[in-house]
Amino acid sequence: MLLLADKPLRSGCLVIGVCAVVLASCLWSCREEKSPPANERRVVVVVSGDTAGWIIPCGCTTHQSGGLLRRGTYVEKQREEADVILLDAGGAPGGTSPYQRLKFEAILEGERLMGLAAHNIGGPEVALGLANLQEASRKTGARLISANLRDSVGRPVFDGWTIIETAGRRLAVIGVISPRYAAGDVRIEDPKAAVLASLQQLEGRHDGVVVMAYLPEDELQRLATELPEVDAVIGGPTGQPIAPRAVGPTVLAAATNKGKFLVQLEFAAAGNAGPPTGQVVELTGDWPDDRGQLANLRRYLEELNRRSFEPHQTDLVPSAPPDVPPGYRVAGSATCRECHERDNELWDASRHAKAWEDLKAMERHVDPYCQQCHTTGYGLPGGFVTVAKSPDRLGVGCEACHGPSQVHVEEPERRTPFDAKDQCTRCHDQENSPAFGYERYWEKIKHGETKGTQPDRLGPRPSGTETQP
Ligand code: HEC
Ligand code: HEC
Ligand code: HEC
Ligand code: HEC
Repeated sequence: MLLLADKPLRSGCLVIGVCAVVLASCLWSCREEKSPPANERRVVVVVSGDTAGWIIPCGCTTHQSGGLLRRGTYVEKQREEADVILLDAGGAPGGTSPYQRLKFEAILEGERLMGLAAHNIGGPEVALGLANLQEASRKTGARLISANLRDSVGRPVFDGWTIIETAGRRLAVIGVISPRYAAGDVRIEDPKAAVLASLQQLEGRHDGVVVMAYLPEDELQRLATELPEVDAVIGGPTGQPIAPRAVGPTVLAAATNKGKFLVQLEFAAAGNAGPPTGQVVELTGDWPDDRGQLANLRRYLEELNRRSFEPHQTDLVPSAPPDVPPGYRVAGSATCRECHERDNELWDASRHAKAWEDLKAMERHVDPYCQQCHTTGYGLPGGFVTVAKSPDRLGVGCEACHGPSQVHVEEPERRTPFDAKDQCTRCHDQENSPAFGYERYWEKIKHGETKGTQPDRLGPRPSGTETQP
């Protein structure tokens, strides 16, 4: 009989918090006489996945889940009560730019600090290219695994599996990825065949097998159905997390969605046979920040500060209009002031004028991800480049909404390029401004009325210069 619960731990957080204190003091005082012998300790497998570059959840709203700081605390908590085997199902990079590669290395380093046993290679990892992937593994000491990934001449590049011994048990972990992610110099073989080949090599060397599978949901389902030989198939990137459930004798689960959810599986103590049980855990704000992970994040932010990536080194720049007209340049809010004095006063009093200071107060002004919405003209001609190169493009200035307006500054009868009211949701998106509504928000930054401008007299805006989000 399988006993599978999918109740998220969230509701129990307060209780756990209280218990933690009681338990911690008990563990301290009772350690010597009450600690169970090593081979009777529980073995818990915790799997993260689909982190997609989210080393922390976005800082704009407080109710976002996920991030390595909470993951670290969660894992530490489990370690107080069980032997934890920590795994990642893949999908950690948020892109392939130099900025995203640095972030990926910081994520791998964070995982190493948590004591990760193996990191499966997923689609975003493959997209980095083999050389970058090998370098990241070498730099961070991360144990990357993939049983079906091959180089351009068909040779395996990473170990296909690993065996973890703990509490008197030997757990084999095999990694696979869907052939649909083959790219560049990477070939990918059939996942099922690769698992079966690994099982042959592993014969007699383990007491349980977990397969980490970076596969879309339909392929994940099929693989679990076709592998009654293994205890669990844990994947991502499915749209929603999948709480552990039985597919024949095999348990299927998925950890996904920007690292917001973990899968936790519990294996019976050595000698007690039986399939693993488990649940999905959401990393809500109830989990405090882990100190080691916080230190890792600081080192990453310092490195960002040192490297000072320009927009073209990130993948955050909106696609440029096809034929950029001459004079399509950000002129800077200071140049608007002489003719639009009242609009400037209103802007000075708005939150947009404080957007950079707020970022700085959080010490996140060095992060391009945050910069893209808290600066003016990020990556556009004449717009924000770096703090040093464009010190007067900080904050959400006039041209963040009206577009690069050098032409208008020189010849005011020529219009600014953007339809300003269409620009809001580029930054006020679901994740960073869930309460956004145009009418209500416009009320707070209303301007442009006192000047008696007659834009209709000016005819249509120059075409082809709108940026797309
Ligand atoms: C030299 C004076 C001058 C400067 C500098 C100037 N403007 Fe204007 N702007 C005008 C005048 C005059 C009009 C009204 C044109 C009309 O109605 O004939 C206008 C109209 C506008 C309009 C309404 C027309 C449209 O394009 O939709 C916007 C928006 C605007 N300005 C934004 C800006 C921004 C942003 C800056 C700074 C980058 C700026 N202006 C700099 C003089 C100026
Ligand atoms: C996609 C655009 C976008 C990105 C990326 C972004 N922000 Fe924001 N941020 C906003 C918007 C829009 C608001 C205003 C939200 C509102 O009031 O509805 C905001 C508000 C804020 C505030 C003020 C919140 C308050 O309640 O006072 C802070 C602080 C902040 N962001 C920090 C950050 C940090 C740190 C990052 C990077 C981790 C970041 N932002 C990334 C768009 C963004
Ligand atoms: C957050 C976005 C945003 C910022 C920042 C902003 N504006 Fe506007 N602005 C708008 C919107 C939206 C309108 C109204 C456009 C409409 O109704 O079509 C507007 C209208 C105007 C108008 C009147 C245009 C007209 O159609 O009559 C002027 C002039 C203007 N803004 C100048 C400025 C100047 C100068 C600054 C900087 C000091 C500035 N704006 C900053 C969004 C912005
Ligand atoms: C380039 C990105 C960007 C664009 C475009 C943008 N905003 Fe914002 N907006 C921000 C950021 C960032 C903040 C938060 C600043 C802070 O508090 O630090 C913000 C804050 C605000 C606030 C203050 C919210 C509050 O609770 O007081 C209002 C209102 C607002 N924006 C309205 C608008 C409207 C209306 C538009 C479109 C016409 C617009 N914004 C376009 C980035 C943007």
